[in-house]
Amino acid sequence: MSALAHTSFGADWLELREPLDLAARDPGLLARFGSCVEDGVVQECGAGHGALLRAVAPALRGRVHWHAYDHDTALLAELSPRFTRWGERQGDWRPLATDEDGEPAGSATGRWQGRRAQLAAQTHVVDLAQGLPMLEASAIACSAWLDLVSADWLTALGRQLATAQVHTLYLSMTINGEIRFTPASGEDELLVSAYLRHMEQDKGFGPALGPAAQPRLTQWLDEGGYALDWARSDWRLDCAHAAATRHWLRGLATAAVAHSPMLREVAEAWLHRRRAELAGGWLQVEIGHFDLLATRN
Ligand SMILES: C[S@@+](CC[C@H](N)C(=O)[O-])C[C@H]1O[C@@H](n2cnc3c(N)ncnc32)[C@H](O)[C@@H]1O
Repeated sequence: MSALAHTSFGADWLELREPLDLAARDPGLLARFGSCVEDGVVQECGAGHGALLRAVAPALRGRVHWHAYDHDTALLAELSPRFTRWGERQGDWRPLATDEDGEPAGSATGRWQGRRAQLAAQTHVVDLAQGLPMLEASAIACSAWLDLVSADWLTALGRQLATAQVHTLYLSMTINGEIRFTPASGEDELLVSAYLRHMEQDKGFGPALGPAAQPRLTQWLDEGGYALDWARSDWRLDCAHAAATRHWLRGLATAAVAHSPMLREVAEAWLHRRRAELAGGWLQVEIGHFDLLATRN
């Protein structure tokens, strides 16, 4: 079977990427986001099974209500049990019975008591291509999401934000298009360029921002009156993350071929070589990402 035959970006991929994201996130911005949402209501776009909630949980304070939006029912159904298992491993969080914290029973998918915060999480199966249903939220957050949406989707969200009380946006783990292999090879540029073009294809929101997300965001948030704090959150893939690196390499090759079918042979040979280098312990890949904290009064 061709090495490019099967690529999945489902729950298995989200699990593989979670430790990479955790290591890459800018700790200062993550901590500030945690303080910004003290006693607040957060809406998270494309929440998957809750990796961002687990990442920020140690920085939460007060009573926080977290609304997780995704169109994947199975991923969202995992959010609460995963948080409970994670919280038990941390030793910091215990699940609360339905109305133990004074909230009406049935209004949340899960509730937990931490050392410094009480958390209620609610999941919403929603196709966000139709827009984000606005609640009275103090913050909007996302992780590995913004490069999927289109400029038009951002503009529509901007219109909603103009009349909303959202004072914090934490937009994290967005790719910036920079990919560097060590050792470099002659085919990298060709394949990476096809991969990035593939990223710009419509993911259901219109043409995806892909690596153009950063300049678009700057303009969009400046106009919305937000103060912006940027930080790099690059992934560093190598043999210490062999499964994730293999998966990502295959994803790159598959996407490059999907965009330019004439690259199939080049991509297969390249993938074979890169996997051998990874197994030998001498491949490193840096994948540029950024985190952004945007705030306004
Ligand atoms: C790259 S994953 C990131 C998931 C999660 N934030 C994480 O870091 O593990 C993108 C997420 O966006 C969700 N998604 C994609 N298109 C969507 C849409 N139209 N409406 C709602 N969710 C969507 C996917 O189901 C997936 O969970």
